Amino acid sequence: MHYQQSVFLLLLPLMKKILVIYYTQTGQLKSAIDATLKPFENDSNYSIKYLKVEPKVAYPYPWSYTEFFDAFPETVQGVPTELAPFDLDPSEHFDLVFIAYQPWFLSICIPINSFLQTPEVAVLLKNKNVITLIACRNMWLGGQEKMKAHLLRLQANLVGNITFVDKSANLVSLVTVLAFVLKGVKEKFMGIFPKYGVSDKDLSEAHLFGEVIKKHLNAGSYEGQQAELNTLGATNIRGNLLLMEGRGRALFPLYARYITKKGGKGSEERKTRVRIFGIVLPTGILILSPIITILSRLAPILFRKKFQKEIEYYSQNSLR
Ligand SMILES: Cc1cc2nc3c(=O)[nH]c(=O)nc-3n(C[C@H](O)[C@H](O)[C@H](O)COP(=O)(O)O)c2cc1C
Repeated sequence: MHYQQSVFLLLLPLMKKILVIYYTQTGQLKSAIDATLKPFENDSNYSIKYLKVEPKVAYPYPWSYTEFFDAFPETVQGVPTELAPFDLDPSEHFDLVFIAYQPWFLSICIPINSFLQTPEVAVLLKNKNVITLIACRNMWLGGQEKMKAHLLRLQANLVGNITFVDKSANLVSLVTVLAFVLKGVKEKFMGIFPKYGVSDKDLSEAHLFGEVIKKHLNAGSYEGQQAELNTLGATNIRGNLLLMEGRGRALFPLYARYITKKGGKGSEERKTRVRIFGIVLPTGILILSPIITILSRLAPILFRKKFQKEIEYYSQNSLR
């Protein structure tokens, strides 16, 4: 055996093992993962295994209008879809597990939500330290509440959460996300809108999150980690979006039930209700957005303590 090989084998037990579970449709989330994990790159003290979750039947990109809104009821209701086979030994040890996902309709995207319901995950995540990583438009609070509930059920420890969002005004990113998912246009929609998604600046600074995580992983303690991540901007919470999401999270399950009463995924019978939702949702956001923005400016004055408490709650990792 070569000297280098024997040193490698000797050090193997000291090596920290990281698993990254993720789903990405267009690659935005993978860029955020790579940017965050930069400090681990080419560092032989860590081994990183990537597990890309794929649905058996891929979602279309760009989405057609009907396909996009037809995914709404099952996403909100957490109905799993069949996944492509994945290569995972659930009994393998990992020091740290990342779960990287996008919110869809204020809930966890179907592929990751389906993965969290597999029997393998129950074994894999039990007593594991988990960090969630989200890259989305700007509304992730509802999805993360559902993620916390899953992790609690799976007896995993959520020790960190990092979010990457599109920081444009809400109505601007509403237009650009729809152009992105329905038309496949990311850059300058109609020549006037900004590029959709997470900014290059945020990606270039993401290695700072990785440094914090590396420090805590090495110390074997995650106490204070989220607070440190927060000072670097890991939890993007805006008052107007918090109020807006609250409305959506109350109404979405009702509308999802209204659609599924007519039929299952893709069925002809529910198409009219799906299409109505496809008009009501953007129109609702368009009308509510300015009203809620005004309310969100008043809320910190009128209900200062309650508002502050809400922001603090969503900036930490336990479930109320
Ligand atoms: C069906 C669907 C629903 C979405 N719903 C939300 C949402 O509720 N909140 C949000 O911030 N982004 C939402 N997005 C945007 C995604 O979070 C994400 O930005 C986009 O899918 C690109 O991610 P990817 O490149 O990693 O696939 C949605 C996207 C899709 C396709």
